[in-house]
Amino acid sequence: MSIQSIKELPIEGKKVFIRVDFNVPLTRDGKVADTTRIDAALPTIRFALEKGVRVILASHLGRPKGKVDMKFSMEPVGMVLAEKLDMEIKLADSAVGDGPFKLASELRDGEVLLLENLRFHPGETSNDESFARALASMADVYVNDAFGTSHRAHASTAGMVPFVEEAGAGFLLEKEVNFFEKLLSSPDKPFVAILGGAKVSDKVGVIRKLMDLVDKIIIGGAMANTFLSAQGFKTGQSRVEEDKISLCKELLQNAKARNIDILLPKDVVIAASLDATETEIVGISEGVDPDKMALDIGPETVEMFLDALTDARTIFWNGPMGVFENPVLAVGTMNLAQGVAKSKGMTVIGGGDSVSAINKAGLADKISHISTGGGASLEMMEGLLLPGLQALAR
Ligand code: 3PG
Repeated sequence: MSIQSIKELPIEGKKVFIRVDFNVPLTRDGKVADTTRIDAALPTIRFALEKGVRVILASHLGRPKGKVDMKFSMEPVGMVLAEKLDMEIKLADSAVGDGPFKLASELRDGEVLLLENLRFHPGETSNDESFARALASMADVYVNDAFGTSHRAHASTAGMVPFVEEAGAGFLLEKEVNFFEKLLSSPDKPFVAILGGAKVSDKVGVIRKLMDLVDKIIIGGAMANTFLSAQGFKTGQSRVEEDKISLCKELLQNAKARNIDILLPKDVVIAASLDATETEIVGISEGVDPDKMALDIGPETVEMFLDALTDARTIFWNGPMGVFENPVLAVGTMNLAQGVAKSKGMTVIGGGDSVSAINKAGLADKISHISTGGGASLEMMEGLLLPGLQALAR
């Protein structure tokens, strides 16, 4: 698929609409809690500003469901941006309408306008044509730098593209796509995937696709319980998706037939609740006590998983190994983070929880690529064509 880079677009003297993913976590008092996604979009914004263009930034924040809800206002994001770029950021009080249209047409070269939350309008997620046209009417050139939202076929990620003169990708989108294309098309072997997190059902498509690519799949987190249950082990009160047990059996058989190792926990850390302060370690063959839950991987499993990573030349990691928000249940995830960071191979991490685990471990700079996309990175790994990318294809 050929997509023009912002570097190739004739942006000089134009109004450039940059779709960014500023869907950032907020603190209880409404401040930006993590600026990773804002930082990741800065190279594209700075490039546009250096070219002296008029920049219109647009993003969603949260899921306000098509209604104005000021707790999801872009205002705190605008404040961070103003600080990072050391310049005034004009904030429109809506994403479309006379107000933002006027602000956009009065912009001067080198100025930045941040539109209010796109999802205050139902037309954004329904990809309504008149909403898409209204967004497009403010600009000449469209740039998508919102990798994290490119799996959504929304007005600002796909619908508006035919209504602008030129369209292409920002540097973040390009970088993300290049890493995932490398994983999908020519990964150095051995390739080990690590999957964790809550549900098998979220990861079925990825597991199927990974079978074509990887040598080993490490499975931890709550999703491992459904696989363990499929193997007949007692999982106590652990989260198990009963309706996915036969699917897990099928995936295990399929992997065996194709000589792919699926590594599951041998021992687990159990406790009565997610906020427990006291835990026990049990072997999987003993089984989880009927009144307890498996909430992290145990030490033998950590050793086995780390061992599986030692010769890996490519690693993809999505999802934590346990309830890592609780320090007593974070040991497995943190050890795995160390193992991934130590790897000499190419390492790619996607998904909010694994990214925050690697940040918490202070190891982010040891990873080849930390994706800003959760759902988008999973859909990429499933081999799906993301609507945001499709819209830019020439
Ligand atoms: C994300 O955080 O994964 C993206 O910003 C997309 O958000 P959404 O899942 O609300 O569409």
